[in-house]
Amino acid sequence: MQAAPAQTQHAPLAPHATVPTDQACRDRLGRPLRDLRLSVIDQCNFRCTYCMPKERFGRDYPFLTAQQRLSDTELLRIVRAFVGLGVEKVRLTGGEPLLRKGIEALVEAIASLRTRGGKQVEVAMTTNGSLLARKARALRDAGLGRVTVSLDSLDDGVFRAMNDVGFPVARVLEGIDAACAAGLAPVKVNCVVERGTNDAQVLPLVEHFRGSGVTLRFIEYMDVEGPRGWSQSRVVPSGEIRAMVERAHALLPVARRDAETASNYLLADGSLKLGFISSVSHPFCGDCTRARVSVDGRLHLCLFATSSVDLRPHLSAHRPAEALAEAISQAWQARGDRYSELRAESRAERLASGKRQYPTVRMSLVGG
Ligand code: GTP
Ligand code: 5AD
Ligand code: SF4
Ligand code: SF4
Repeated sequence: MQAAPAQTQHAPLAPHATVPTDQACRDRLGRPLRDLRLSVIDQCNFRCTYCMPKERFGRDYPFLTAQQRLSDTELLRIVRAFVGLGVEKVRLTGGEPLLRKGIEALVEAIASLRTRGGKQVEVAMTTNGSLLARKARALRDAGLGRVTVSLDSLDDGVFRAMNDVGFPVARVLEGIDAACAAGLAPVKVNCVVERGTNDAQVLPLVEHFRGSGVTLRFIEYMDVEGPRGWSQSRVVPSGEIRAMVERAHALLPVARRDAETASNYLLADGSLKLGFISSVSHPFCGDCTRARVSVDGRLHLCLFATSSVDLRPHLSAHRPAEALAEAISQAWQARGDRYSELRAESRAERLASGKRQYPTVRMSLVGG
Protein backbone atom coordinates (compact mmCIF):
# COMPACT_ATOMS: atom_id res chain seq x y z
CA MET A 1 0.00 0.00 0.00
CA GLN A 2 1.27 3.50 -0.78
CA ALA A 3 1.97 5.94 2.04
CA ALA A 4 -0.49 8.83 2.29
CA PRO A 5 0.90 11.93 0.59
CA ALA A 6 2.44 14.77 2.53
CA GLN A 7 0.24 17.56 3.82
CA THR A 8 -0.39 20.45 1.43
CA GLN A 9 -0.24 23.93 2.95
CA HIS A 10 -3.62 25.63 2.85
CA ALA A 11 -4.76 29.14 3.60
CA PRO A 12 -7.85 29.32 5.88
CA LEU A 13 -11.11 28.86 3.99
CA ALA A 14 -13.80 31.50 3.74
CA PRO A 15 -16.86 29.45 4.65
CA HIS A 16 -19.84 31.60 3.70
CA ALA A 17 -18.84 32.97 0.35
CA THR A 18 -21.51 34.44 -1.89
CA VAL A 19 -21.90 33.16 -5.41
CA PRO A 20 -22.17 35.42 -8.44
CA THR A 21 -25.19 34.95 -10.68
CA ASP A 22 -25.00 34.40 -14.43
CA GLN A 23 -27.04 33.22 -17.39
CA ALA A 24 -27.45 29.47 -17.99
CA CYS A 25 -24.26 28.13 -19.53
CA ARG A 26 -24.86 25.66 -22.38
CA ASP A 27 -22.48 23.86 -24.70
CA ARG A 28 -22.68 23.54 -28.49
CA LEU A 29 -25.04 20.60 -28.16
CA GLY A 30 -27.33 22.57 -25.83
CA ARG A 31 -26.24 20.70 -22.69
CA PRO A 32 -26.26 22.85 -19.55
CA LEU A 33 -23.37 22.84 -17.08
CA ARG A 34 -24.84 21.20 -13.97
CA ASP A 35 -22.33 18.88 -12.31
CA LEU A 36 -18.73 19.30 -11.31
CA ARG A 37 -16.54 16.27 -10.67
CA LEU A 38 -13.55 17.55 -8.76
CA SER A 39 -10.59 15.21 -8.43
CA VAL A 40 -8.84 16.21 -5.20
CA ILE A 41 -5.82 13.89 -5.45
CA ASP A 42 -4.36 11.67 -8.18
CA GLN A 43 -3.00 9.03 -5.80
CA CYS A 44 -4.74 5.93 -4.54
CA ASN A 45 -3.95 3.23 -1.99
CA PHE A 46 -5.45 0.57 -4.31
CA ARG A 47 -4.07 -0.65 -7.61
CA CYS A 48 -7.28 -1.88 -9.25
CA THR A 49 -6.24 -3.84 -12.29
CA TYR A 50 -8.75 -2.03 -14.55
CA CYS A 51 -7.67 1.45 -13.41
CA MET A 52 -4.16 1.71 -11.91
CA PRO A 53 -2.34 -1.55 -12.65
CA LYS A 54 0.82 -2.00 -10.58
CA GLU A 55 3.14 -2.48 -13.52
CA ARG A 56 2.21 0.99 -14.73
CA PHE A 57 1.63 2.82 -11.43
CA GLY A 58 4.70 1.66 -9.53
CA ARG A 59 6.84 3.37 -6.89
CA ASP A 60 8.52 5.54 -9.50
CA TYR A 61 5.26 6.77 -11.08
CA PRO A 62 5.34 10.59 -11.38
CA PHE A 63 2.27 11.44 -9.33
CA LEU A 64 1.61 15.14 -8.84
CA THR A 65 3.66 16.66 -6.05
CA ALA A 66 2.15 18.71 -3.21
CA GLN A 67 3.26 21.85 -5.08
CA GLN A 68 1.53 20.75 -8.25
CA ARG A 69 -1.73 20.00 -6.46
CA LEU A 70 -4.09 22.91 -5.95
CA SER A 71 -4.64 24.06 -2.37
CA ASP A 72 -8.10 24.00 -0.76
CA THR A 73 -8.34 27.75 -1.31
CA GLU A 74 -7.70 27.33 -5.02
CA LEU A 75 -10.10 24.42 -5.33
CA LEU A 76 -12.76 26.45 -3.57
CA ARG A 77 -12.28 29.34 -5.98
CA ILE A 78 -12.87 26.95 -8.82
CA VAL A 79 -15.97 25.43 -7.23
CA ARG A 80 -17.37 28.89 -6.54
CA ALA A 81 -16.94 29.84 -10.19
CA PHE A 82 -18.74 26.68 -11.33
CA VAL A 83 -21.57 27.26 -8.89
CA GLY A 84 -21.92 30.79 -10.23
CA LEU A 85 -22.36 29.25 -13.69
CA GLY A 86 -25.21 27.00 -12.56
CA VAL A 87 -23.57 23.92 -11.02
CA GLU A 88 -25.65 22.41 -8.20
CA LYS A 89 -23.81 19.20 -7.48
CA VAL A 90 -20.12 18.71 -6.75
CA ARG A 91 -18.72 15.18 -6.63
CA LEU A 92 -15.29 14.77 -5.06
CA THR A 93 -13.23 12.05 -6.69
CA GLY A 94 -9.62 10.96 -6.94
CA GLY A 95 -7.59 8.72 -7.09
CA GLU A 96 -8.85 8.15 -3.58
CA PRO A 97 -10.30 11.41 -2.22
CA LEU A 98 -10.05 10.38 1.43
CA LEU A 99 -6.24 10.35 1.11
CA ARG A 100 -6.29 14.12 0.81
CA LYS A 101 -5.37 15.69 4.11
CA GLY A 102 -8.07 17.91 5.57
CA ILE A 103 -10.75 16.66 3.18
CA GLU A 104 -13.43 17.37 5.80
CA ALA A 105 -12.62 21.10 5.76
CA LEU A 106 -12.90 21.17 1.98
CA VAL A 107 -16.26 19.37 2.13
CA GLU A 108 -17.47 21.85 4.73
CA ALA A 109 -16.45 24.86 2.65
CA ILE A 110 -18.11 23.53 -0.50
CA ALA A 111 -21.28 22.54 1.35
CA SER A 112 -21.60 26.08 2.69
CA LEU A 113 -21.91 27.52 -0.85
CA ARG A 114 -25.36 28.33 -2.23
CA THR A 115 -26.60 27.52 -5.73
CA ARG A 116 -28.01 30.29 -7.89
CA GLY A 117 -31.44 29.18 -6.71
CA GLY A 118 -30.34 29.64 -3.10
CA LYS A 119 -30.12 25.97 -2.18
CA GLN A 120 -27.18 24.33 -0.47
CA VAL A 121 -24.72 22.88 -3.00
CA GLU A 122 -24.97 19.09 -2.98
CA VAL A 123 -21.64 17.47 -2.14
CA ALA A 124 -21.07 13.81 -2.96
CA MET A 125 -17.99 11.60 -3.08
CA THR A 126 -16.79 8.52 -4.93
CA THR A 127 -14.40 6.51 -2.75
CA ASN A 128 -12.90 3.04 -2.53
CA GLY A 129 -14.24 2.85 1.04
CA SER A 130 -10.96 1.82 2.64
CA LEU A 131 -10.96 4.78 5.06
CA LEU A 132 -14.70 5.27 5.30
CA ALA A 133 -15.37 3.34 8.50
CA ARG A 134 -13.44 5.92 10.50
CA LYS A 135 -14.34 8.99 8.44
CA ALA A 136 -18.04 8.60 7.56
CA ARG A 137 -19.41 10.44 10.60
CA ALA A 138 -17.01 13.39 10.34
CA LEU A 139 -17.73 13.72 6.62
CA ARG A 140 -21.45 13.76 7.28
CA ASP A 141 -20.96 16.39 9.99
CA ALA A 142 -18.92 18.46 7.54
CA GLY A 143 -21.83 18.49 5.09
CA LEU A 144 -21.18 15.56 2.74
CA GLY A 145 -24.57 14.54 1.37
CA ARG A 146 -23.93 11.10 -0.02
CA VAL A 147 -21.28 8.65 -0.95
CA THR A 148 -20.60 6.09 -3.69
CA VAL A 149 -18.30 3.21 -2.80
CA SER A 150 -16.47 1.04 -5.33
CA LEU A 151 -16.81 -2.67 -4.56
CA ASP A 152 -16.07 -5.21 -7.25
CA SER A 153 -16.52 -8.43 -5.33
CA LEU A 154 -17.83 -9.94 -2.11
CA ASP A 155 -15.39 -12.79 -2.36
CA ASP A 156 -12.30 -11.78 -0.40
CA GLY A 157 -9.85 -13.52 -2.75
CA VAL A 158 -11.33 -11.94 -5.86
CA PHE A 159 -11.51 -8.55 -4.15
CA ARG A 160 -7.88 -8.66 -3.01
CA ALA A 161 -6.76 -9.72 -6.48
CA MET A 162 -8.67 -6.87 -8.10
CA ASN A 163 -7.47 -4.12 -5.73
CA ASP A 164 -4.03 -5.80 -6.01
CA VAL A 165 -2.83 -4.53 -2.63
CA GLY A 166 -4.43 -7.34 -0.63
CA PHE A 167 -7.06 -5.08 0.92
CA PRO A 168 -9.73 -7.18 2.66
CA VAL A 169 -13.32 -6.86 1.51
CA ALA A 170 -14.58 -6.88 5.12
CA ARG A 171 -13.11 -3.42 5.73
CA VAL A 172 -14.87 -1.91 2.74
CA LEU A 173 -18.12 -3.52 3.91
CA GLU A 174 -17.54 -1.88 7.30
CA GLY A 175 -17.09 1.42 5.47
CA ILE A 176 -20.37 0.95 3.62
CA ASP A 177 -22.14 0.15 6.91
CA ALA A 178 -20.64 3.25 8.50
CA ALA A 179 -21.80 5.39 5.58
CA CYS A 180 -25.33 4.02 5.93
CA ALA A 181 -25.30 4.56 9.68
CA ALA A 182 -24.06 8.13 9.23
CA GLY A 183 -26.94 8.85 6.84
CA LEU A 184 -24.84 9.45 3.71
CA ALA A 185 -27.86 8.27 1.77
CA PRO A 186 -28.57 6.94 -0.72
CA VAL A 187 -25.30 5.04 -0.45
CA LYS A 188 -24.40 3.68 -3.89
CA VAL A 189 -22.08 0.78 -4.56
CA ASN A 190 -20.25 0.67 -7.92
CA CYS A 191 -19.01 -2.60 -9.36
CA VAL A 192 -16.94 -2.62 -12.56
CA VAL A 193 -17.60 -5.97 -14.19
CA GLU A 194 -14.80 -7.67 -16.09
CA ARG A 195 -15.47 -10.92 -17.89
CA GLY A 196 -13.64 -13.86 -16.38
CA THR A 197 -12.58 -11.85 -13.32
CA ASN A 198 -15.65 -10.91 -11.29
CA ASP A 199 -18.72 -11.63 -13.41
CA ALA A 200 -19.53 -14.50 -11.04
CA GLN A 201 -19.87 -11.86 -8.30
CA VAL A 202 -22.95 -10.19 -9.78
CA LEU A 203 -25.53 -12.39 -8.05
CA PRO A 204 -23.74 -12.60 -4.68
CA LEU A 205 -23.60 -8.77 -4.64
CA VAL A 206 -27.30 -8.56 -5.45
CA GLU A 207 -28.17 -10.99 -2.64
CA HIS A 208 -25.88 -9.23 -0.17
CA PHE A 209 -27.38 -5.78 -0.64
CA ARG A 210 -31.08 -6.76 -0.73
CA GLY A 211 -32.90 -4.96 2.03
CA SER A 212 -29.89 -2.77 2.91
CA GLY A 213 -31.11 0.49 1.34
CA VAL A 214 -27.95 0.60 -0.79
CA THR A 215 -28.23 1.18 -4.58
CA LEU A 216 -26.07 -1.33 -6.41
CA ARG A 217 -24.67 -0.33 -9.81
CA PHE A 218 -22.84 -2.39 -12.38
CA ILE A 219 -20.42 -0.55 -14.68
CA GLU A 220 -19.18 -1.73 -18.05
CA TYR A 221 -15.40 -2.05 -18.22
CA MET A 222 -14.11 0.93 -20.21
CA ASP A 223 -10.87 1.27 -22.14
CA VAL A 224 -8.84 3.74 -20.08
CA GLU A 225 -5.14 4.55 -19.92
CA GLY A 226 -3.10 2.09 -17.88
CA PRO A 227 -4.51 -1.40 -18.04
CA ARG A 228 -3.03 -3.50 -20.81
CA GLY A 229 -5.14 -5.74 -22.96
CA TRP A 230 -8.58 -4.11 -22.77
CA SER A 231 -10.74 -5.78 -25.34
CA GLN A 232 -14.40 -5.77 -26.14
CA SER A 233 -14.55 -9.42 -25.16
CA ARG A 234 -13.76 -8.50 -21.53
CA VAL A 235 -16.68 -6.09 -21.35
CA VAL A 236 -19.84 -7.66 -19.99
CA PRO A 237 -22.61 -5.60 -21.57
CA SER A 238 -25.26 -4.34 -19.17
CA GLY A 239 -27.92 -6.33 -21.06
CA GLU A 240 -26.06 -9.51 -20.19
CA ILE A 241 -25.66 -8.57 -16.53
CA ARG A 242 -29.34 -7.72 -16.34
CA ALA A 243 -30.24 -11.08 -17.85
CA MET A 244 -28.10 -12.78 -15.17
CA VAL A 245 -30.05 -10.98 -12.45
CA GLU A 246 -33.38 -11.63 -14.17
CA ARG A 247 -32.80 -15.37 -14.06
CA ALA A 248 -33.08 -15.03 -10.27
CA HIS A 249 -35.33 -11.96 -9.79
CA ALA A 250 -37.99 -10.07 -11.71
CA LEU A 251 -36.92 -6.46 -12.39
CA LEU A 252 -39.05 -3.35 -12.82
CA PRO A 253 -37.60 -0.38 -14.75
CA VAL A 254 -37.37 2.95 -12.93
CA ALA A 255 -37.64 6.22 -14.88
CA ARG A 256 -34.19 7.71 -15.60
CA ARG A 257 -33.50 11.18 -14.23
CA ASP A 258 -32.08 13.72 -16.70
CA ALA A 259 -28.31 13.39 -17.15
CA GLU A 260 -28.11 10.32 -14.93
CA THR A 261 -25.31 7.88 -15.77
CA ALA A 262 -27.26 4.77 -14.79
CA SER A 263 -30.40 3.05 -16.06
CA ASN A 264 -32.18 1.93 -12.93
CA TYR A 265 -34.35 -1.03 -11.97
CA LEU A 266 -36.04 -2.28 -8.83
CA LEU A 267 -36.16 -5.89 -7.78
CA ALA A 268 -39.90 -6.60 -8.05
CA ASP A 269 -40.15 -7.27 -4.32
CA GLY A 270 -38.76 -3.77 -3.71
CA SER A 271 -35.73 -5.09 -1.82
CA LEU A 272 -33.02 -3.48 -3.98
CA LYS A 273 -32.46 -0.68 -6.47
CA LEU A 274 -30.08 -1.69 -9.25
CA GLY A 275 -28.32 0.57 -11.76
CA PHE A 276 -26.49 -0.24 -14.99
CA ILE A 277 -23.86 2.16 -16.31
CA SER A 278 -23.49 1.26 -19.98
CA SER A 279 -20.81 3.65 -21.25
CA VAL A 280 -19.67 1.07 -23.82
CA SER A 281 -22.91 -0.54 -25.05
CA HIS A 282 -25.29 2.43 -24.62
CA PRO A 283 -23.38 5.70 -24.20
CA PHE A 284 -25.21 8.54 -22.50
CA CYS A 285 -23.48 11.62 -23.93
CA GLY A 286 -26.70 13.20 -25.22
CA ASP A 287 -27.53 14.88 -21.92
CA CYS A 288 -24.09 14.91 -20.30
CA THR A 289 -23.90 17.89 -17.95
CA ARG A 290 -20.63 16.91 -16.24
CA ALA A 291 -17.45 18.97 -16.15
CA ARG A 292 -14.30 17.57 -14.56
CA VAL A 293 -11.41 19.37 -12.92
CA SER A 294 -8.21 17.55 -12.00
CA VAL A 295 -6.17 18.58 -8.99
CA ASP A 296 -3.53 20.21 -11.21
CA GLY A 297 -6.16 22.79 -12.12
CA ARG A 298 -7.12 21.50 -15.56
CA LEU A 299 -10.68 21.52 -16.86
CA HIS A 300 -11.68 18.38 -18.79
CA LEU A 301 -14.85 18.75 -20.81
CA CYS A 302 -15.28 15.00 -21.23
CA LEU A 303 -14.02 11.92 -19.42
CA PHE A 304 -12.20 10.92 -22.60
CA ALA A 305 -11.14 14.32 -23.88
CA THR A 306 -7.46 14.37 -24.80
CA SER A 307 -7.05 18.10 -24.31
CA SER A 308 -7.89 20.20 -21.28
CA VAL A 309 -8.02 23.84 -20.27
CA ASP A 310 -5.52 25.14 -17.73
CA LEU A 311 -7.37 27.14 -15.08
CA ARG A 312 -4.26 27.95 -13.06
CA PRO A 313 -3.49 31.27 -14.76
CA HIS A 314 -6.84 32.51 -13.45
CA LEU A 315 -6.26 31.41 -9.87
CA SER A 316 -3.88 34.01 -8.57
CA ALA A 317 -5.28 36.18 -5.81
CA HIS A 318 -4.76 39.22 -8.06
CA ARG A 319 -7.05 37.96 -10.81
CA PRO A 320 -10.74 38.84 -10.52
CA ALA A 321 -13.13 35.92 -9.86
CA GLU A 322 -14.96 36.86 -13.08
CA ALA A 323 -11.91 35.95 -15.21
CA LEU A 324 -11.99 32.38 -13.94
CA ALA A 325 -15.75 32.08 -14.50
CA GLU A 326 -15.34 33.55 -17.97
CA ALA A 327 -12.64 31.01 -18.90
CA ILE A 328 -14.84 28.12 -17.75
CA SER A 329 -17.91 29.52 -19.45
CA GLN A 330 -16.11 30.01 -22.77
CA ALA A 331 -14.68 26.50 -22.68
CA TRP A 332 -18.09 25.00 -21.88
CA GLN A 333 -19.81 26.95 -24.64
CA ALA A 334 -17.28 25.60 -27.16
CA ARG A 335 -17.82 22.01 -25.95
CA GLY A 336 -19.00 19.46 -28.48
CA ASP A 337 -17.53 16.34 -26.84
CA ARG A 338 -19.41 13.06 -26.96
CA TYR A 339 -16.58 10.59 -26.98
CA SER A 340 -18.37 7.46 -25.76
CA GLU A 341 -20.89 7.84 -28.54
CA LEU A 342 -18.19 8.40 -31.15
CA ARG A 343 -16.28 5.40 -29.90
CA ALA A 344 -19.33 3.20 -30.07
CA GLU A 345 -20.09 4.41 -33.60
CA SER A 346 -16.63 3.70 -34.96
CA ARG A 347 -15.61 0.71 -32.82
CA ALA A 348 -16.50 -1.93 -35.36
CA GLU A 349 -14.56 -0.07 -38.04
CA ARG A 350 -11.44 0.25 -35.91
CA LEU A 351 -11.58 -3.32 -34.71
CA ALA A 352 -11.75 -4.44 -38.33
CA SER A 353 -8.71 -2.33 -39.23
CA GLY A 354 -6.77 -3.79 -36.27
CA LYS A 355 -5.49 -0.32 -35.23
CA ARG A 356 -4.92 0.84 -31.65
CA GLN A 357 -8.39 1.93 -30.63
CA TYR A 358 -8.06 5.61 -29.68
CA PRO A 359 -6.27 7.79 -27.16
CA THR A 360 -7.25 6.97 -23.59
CA VAL A 361 -7.24 8.96 -20.36
CA ARG A 362 -5.94 8.35 -16.88
CA MET A 363 -9.05 7.78 -14.76
CA SER A 364 -7.21 8.37 -11.49
CA LEU A 365 -6.28 11.90 -12.61
CA VAL A 366 -9.54 12.90 -14.27
CA GLY A 367 -11.66 11.23 -11.60
CA GLY A 368 -13.75 8.62 -13.40
P1 GTP B 1 -24.65 10.10 -9.23
O1 GTP B 1 -24.47 11.47 -8.70
O2 GTP B 1 -25.02 9.18 -8.15
O3 GTP B 1 -25.53 10.02 -10.44
O4 GTP B 1 -23.19 9.66 -9.59
P2 GTP B 1 -22.40 9.30 -10.87
O5 GTP B 1 -22.96 8.05 -11.45
O6 GTP B 1 -22.24 10.48 -11.74
O7 GTP B 1 -20.96 9.08 -10.24
P3 GTP B 1 -20.03 7.88 -10.04
O8 GTP B 1 -18.72 8.43 -9.61
O9 GTP B 1 -20.63 6.85 -9.18
O10 GTP B 1 -19.91 7.35 -11.54
C1 GTP B 1 -19.91 6.01 -11.76
C2 GTP B 1 -19.01 5.63 -12.90
O11 GTP B 1 -19.72 5.88 -14.10
C3 GTP B 1 -17.73 6.41 -13.05
O12 GTP B 1 -16.72 5.93 -12.24
C4 GTP B 1 -17.43 6.15 -14.49
O13 GTP B 1 -16.92 4.86 -14.60
C5 GTP B 1 -18.82 6.22 -15.07
N1 GTP B 1 -19.12 7.58 -15.48
C6 GTP B 1 -19.54 8.63 -14.71
N2 GTP B 1 -19.72 9.72 -15.43
C7 GTP B 1 -19.43 9.37 -16.70
C8 GTP B 1 -19.42 10.08 -17.91
O14 GTP B 1 -19.72 11.27 -17.97
N3 GTP B 1 -19.04 9.39 -19.02
C9 GTP B 1 -18.70 8.10 -19.00
N4 GTP B 1 -18.36 7.52 -20.15
N5 GTP B 1 -18.69 7.39 -17.86
C10 GTP B 1 -19.04 8.02 -16.73
N1 5AD C 1 -13.91 1.08 -16.48
C1 5AD C 1 -15.00 1.54 -15.84
N2 5AD C 1 -14.95 2.26 -14.71
C2 5AD C 1 -13.74 2.52 -14.21
N3 5AD C 1 -13.37 3.19 -13.12
C3 5AD C 1 -12.02 3.20 -13.06
N4 5AD C 1 -11.50 2.51 -14.09
C4 5AD C 1 -12.56 2.08 -14.82
C5 5AD C 1 -12.67 1.33 -16.00
N5 5AD C 1 -11.60 0.87 -16.67
C6 5AD C 1 -14.31 3.84 -12.23
C7 5AD C 1 -15.08 2.87 -11.35
C8 5AD C 1 -14.64 3.16 -9.99
C9 5AD C 1 -14.33 4.63 -10.12
C10 5AD C 1 -13.41 5.15 -9.09
O1 5AD C 1 -13.69 4.75 -11.39
O2 5AD C 1 -16.41 3.23 -11.39
O3 5AD C 1 -15.69 2.88 -9.09
FE1 SF4 D 1 -8.16 3.61 -6.86
FE2 SF4 D 1 -10.70 3.79 -7.58
FE3 SF4 D 1 -8.82 3.49 -9.44
FE4 SF4 D 1 -9.37 1.48 -7.81
S1 SF4 D 1 -10.79 2.39 -9.30
S2 SF4 D 1 -7.32 2.22 -8.34
S3 SF4 D 1 -9.85 2.52 -5.92
S4 SF4 D 1 -9.06 5.27 -8.10
FE1 SF4 E 1 -20.06 12.97 -21.06
FE2 SF4 E 1 -17.84 12.45 -22.40
FE3 SF4 E 1 -18.91 10.62 -20.77
FE4 SF4 E 1 -20.08 11.23 -23.09
S1 SF4 E 1 -18.08 10.25 -22.80
S2 SF4 E 1 -21.11 10.98 -21.11
S3 SF4 E 1 -19.66 13.44 -23.20
S4 SF4 E 1 -18.06 12.61 -20.17
